[in-house]
Amino acid sequence: MAFDIEMIKGVYSRMAERVDAARKVVGKPLTLSEKILYNHLWDGNPTTAFTRGKDYVDFAPDRIACQDATAQMALLQFMQAGKSKVAVPTTVHCDHLIQAKDGAAADLRQANSVSSEVFNFLESVSNKYGIGFWKPGAGIIHQVVLENYAFPGGMMIGTDSHTVNAGGLGMVAIGVGGADAVDVMAGMAWELKFPKLIGVKLTGKLSGWTAPKDVILKVAEILTVKGGTGAIVEYFGPGATAMSCTGKGTICNMGAEIGATTSTFGYDESMERYLRSTERADVADAANKVKEYLTADPEVYANPEQYFDQVIEINLSELNPLLNGPFTPDLSTPAGKEMGEKAKANDWPIVVEWGLIGSCTNSSYEDLSRASSIAQQAIDKGVKMKAELGINPGSEQVRYTAERDGILEVFEKLDAKIFTNACGPCIGQWARYSDPKNAPKNSIVHSFNRNFAKRADGNPNTHAFVASPELTAAIAIAGRLDFNPMTDKLINEEGEEVMFDEPTGWELPPKGFEVKDNGYIEPEADGSHVQVIVDPKSERLQLLTPFTPIGDDIKGAKLLIKAFGKCTTDHISMAGPWLRFRGHLDNISNNCLIGAVNAYNQQTNFVKNQLTGEYGGVPDVQRQYKKEGIKTIVVGDHNYGEGSSREHAAMEPRHLGVAAVIVKSFARIHETNLKKQGMLGLTFANESDYDLIQEDDTFNFLDLNEFAPDKQLTLEVVHANGSKDVIKLNHTYNEAQIAWYKAGSALNLIAAENA
Ligand code: F3S
Repeated sequence: MAFDIEMIKGVYSRMAERVDAARKVVGKPLTLSEKILYNHLWDGNPTTAFTRGKDYVDFAPDRIACQDATAQMALLQFMQAGKSKVAVPTTVHCDHLIQAKDGAAADLRQANSVSSEVFNFLESVSNKYGIGFWKPGAGIIHQVVLENYAFPGGMMIGTDSHTVNAGGLGMVAIGVGGADAVDVMAGMAWELKFPKLIGVKLTGKLSGWTAPKDVILKVAEILTVKGGTGAIVEYFGPGATAMSCTGKGTICNMGAEIGATTSTFGYDESMERYLRSTERADVADAANKVKEYLTADPEVYANPEQYFDQVIEINLSELNPLLNGPFTPDLSTPAGKEMGEKAKANDWPIVVEWGLIGSCTNSSYEDLSRASSIAQQAIDKGVKMKAELGINPGSEQVRYTAERDGILEVFEKLDAKIFTNACGPCIGQWARYSDPKNAPKNSIVHSFNRNFAKRADGNPNTHAFVASPELTAAIAIAGRLDFNPMTDKLINEEGEEVMFDEPTGWELPPKGFEVKDNGYIEPEADGSHVQVIVDPKSERLQLLTPFTPIGDDIKGAKLLIKAFGKCTTDHISMAGPWLRFRGHLDNISNNCLIGAVNAYNQQTNFVKNQLTGEYGGVPDVQRQYKKEGIKTIVVGDHNYGEGSSREHAAMEPRHLGVAAVIVKSFARIHETNLKKQGMLGLTFANESDYDLIQEDDTFNFLDLNEFAPDKQLTLEVVHANGSKDVIKLNHTYNEAQIAWYKAGSALNLIAAENA
């Protein structure tokens, strides 16, 4: 179940037949994304031309990857499905539950002690069901996947939004909720709305201070956090082929920040070099034999407007180093003077307190080597580091190799902290403050992908800016947000003016990758004897019981919260300290929607209890409604549930008794997660009806008994003064998804079929 060349050869051996058939059915040349999608149809040879953005299609992914935070709930669900082994190669990666504090060795020891119950659970479930297990410290899931499992032309799903990172190696890799992963682990098809296609043509060449990160920061500026929704972004052009494989991974990784289903690149020499360097020459050889199927048909890139739904062109030669933020990854500003002016106008702190290099986005060997070239210059030129610097290498293989090659030593000479090969500050696992809520206003710069409020350190006053690793290093050394390394001078310890030269680095380690213990544990061939134990008194793990169907008679439902503005999965199910309860549904439900802003008072976790007229925390108020047997609804704004794939954001409201989430628009994964959990995820047919909803409203669904695909639902909104509004709600449920709703959840249906 580890790396499986035979499986990859199988994918390639059917490729010609299926892609040729697809070309015939579609009636025109195919993009790379279409080739991969049509080669992974659940039903085999393509016989239908699917309508992008409309048709739901069943796929058969080649692999699954789960990280420790989401794997707990995914595997708890899989255990309910009644199977003896996972149906497709699956791996679990322990990377989210390791706090960054004192440095790698101490932090890893601490994590192994604090989270041993969870790690042991994951290891034993993996062993039992034939799942490859990457233990704590082995690395960040997406870097490990890129190094070991991703392959050109493959399709994978992962229980993490940044699964899309594997597009850097020419995959269609998609982040899903645990419930979707459970379907595929259980041998079922995986359903996806056939994505739209956005082509990004990269001309010119990156040089000097610009990095692949700047490409995606620019794309985020152009498309915004919603612009990629429902689409695969396919990169091509001379600028794409000139870029390293891990650089492509960075670009695909942050496709999650524009809401894209995934992103990908055509197979090229950079991918071949990466495959050979990571000891997968057999994959490179196999890929070379089907090369023409691992990129779009030539007509597509010659005339992209004809084949993509949208085309963007970026000239890499004209691109500048960018800083995106604060609080949203699409707010883009060129480094230097312009950033200084913006910071002044918006009262963003100019002094930068921390620079952080790492996360699945930018923790490759190349990333560390380029950032270290800047750190080395600071040492050589006698410049002292003004901010603090933290590094999370992407994998033990990257760390070991970087240590061997003296890269880590350079950072250490500048007193940087080398944290564990894990997510760390990227997911709020950062012991920066003892009391983050009351911590001071400050700025940090990092090479991560997300910068929502409180994401890194729990401090709502931390202004986090996203940049390339090399720019992060330079800004950390300068200690100023408005520093432009291309034009600005620094004063060294001798009082002299010095400037940085352009960063340099290695795409791949010149002496090859090396690692002593990569942290992988192969499962037993027959794990049927393995016992998985969950202590009923455990705070962190709880076996699941099936959800009861909500039914088609929702009357007298109360408003739990009308969320104002951005409501990401972080707002719905906060990370940070709550990560420890990811395997315990009842306990983690105490964070349900506590980050969402109440539209009526602009406060978080402070909503009206219509039963008492008093205000309280969202989970407490909701538990009272549940106790009284009263259903509730949640109302939200645009792109509700953007962010991560965590199904907890759907399971918690479901567990607590919320019946429906009604919003202006959804982020794709969250919408699917609500459906999987047997809830109603609906959108206002008329967006302005959001404004009609009042704090004391009661809701009656008038025609839920006629719930059917493509048919609007009708909601009666009864206001406190007795007046009523009747509004229309849209939905995207197909027949199968309506069956999930009726069964109480998708898992209820699977279990019934396996009974
Ligand atoms: Fe981990 Fe942050 Fe990536 S949480 S998986 S490093 S987005």
